[in-house]
Amino acid sequence: MKSPIETFSEWVKNGKDDGMEKNHYEPVSKIIELVISTDKKFNIIDAGCGNGWAVRLVANEKNCKSACGVDGSQLMIQKAKKNDLINNYIHADLNTWNPITKVDVVMSMEVFYYFKNPQKIINNIFNYWLKPNGRLIIGVDFYYENPQCHDWQKQTGVSIMNLLKIKEWTNLFKKAGFKDVKKHQFCASGEWKGTLVVEGTKI
Ligand SMILES: C[S@@+](CC[C@H](N)C(=O)[O-])C[C@H]1O[C@@H](n2cnc3c(N)ncnc32)[C@H](O)[C@@H]1O
Repeated sequence: MKSPIETFSEWVKNGKDDGMEKNHYEPVSKIIELVISTDKKFNIIDAGCGNGWAVRLVANEKNCKSACGVDGSQLMIQKAKKNDLINNYIHADLNTWNPITKVDVVMSMEVFYYFKNPQKIINNIFNYWLKPNGRLIIGVDFYYENPQCHDWQKQTGVSIMNLLKIKEWTNLFKKAGFKDVKKHQFCASGEWKGTLVVEGTKI
């Protein structure tokens, strides 16, 4: 079995990373709608930004003051930097990295189940990444109530994939101290139960 970072570095080598923009575009657009819903200016970090396409997308929003992408795959970050000379990209393991300056929003798509201990990272984001009133908004397709994803770990051979229930995800946010925790299932269709998006505010 390969680690999540090794797996996604291979995706860059064979061009499979470009498919993520296509597959994640609709739910990420919904996440960005939540990001801009307050109509306030914001600095944002995309945690596990892959090749940076969502960083470039959110950076176009009129209220976005700065956008930064962080990813553990050196190849993803190299590609992001090649495609974008404006925004900031950092190669780092999210298990241990903290930003120098706190931000208003942290967003993420299809990353948080690749951690052995997602509670630790959510706590870290609450304590060290976000300003007061800052928000964490994450999307995951791999969750218990979405049975179509249940065989993904077998299919992909990725070593860490945490299959949590919706309630478990919202509880991780609450335990970290987030208030006003909400969940959405965006872009559901038939058997596909949609992208689970969980948001919380550091009040
Ligand atoms: C499914 S991809 C999603 C990428 C991007 N958010 C998107 O929607 O296109 C998961 C990403 O998380 C990154 N990742 C996984 N575990 C990580 C870790 N511990 N630290 C940093 N990045 C990690 C991988 O390198 C990969 O780029």
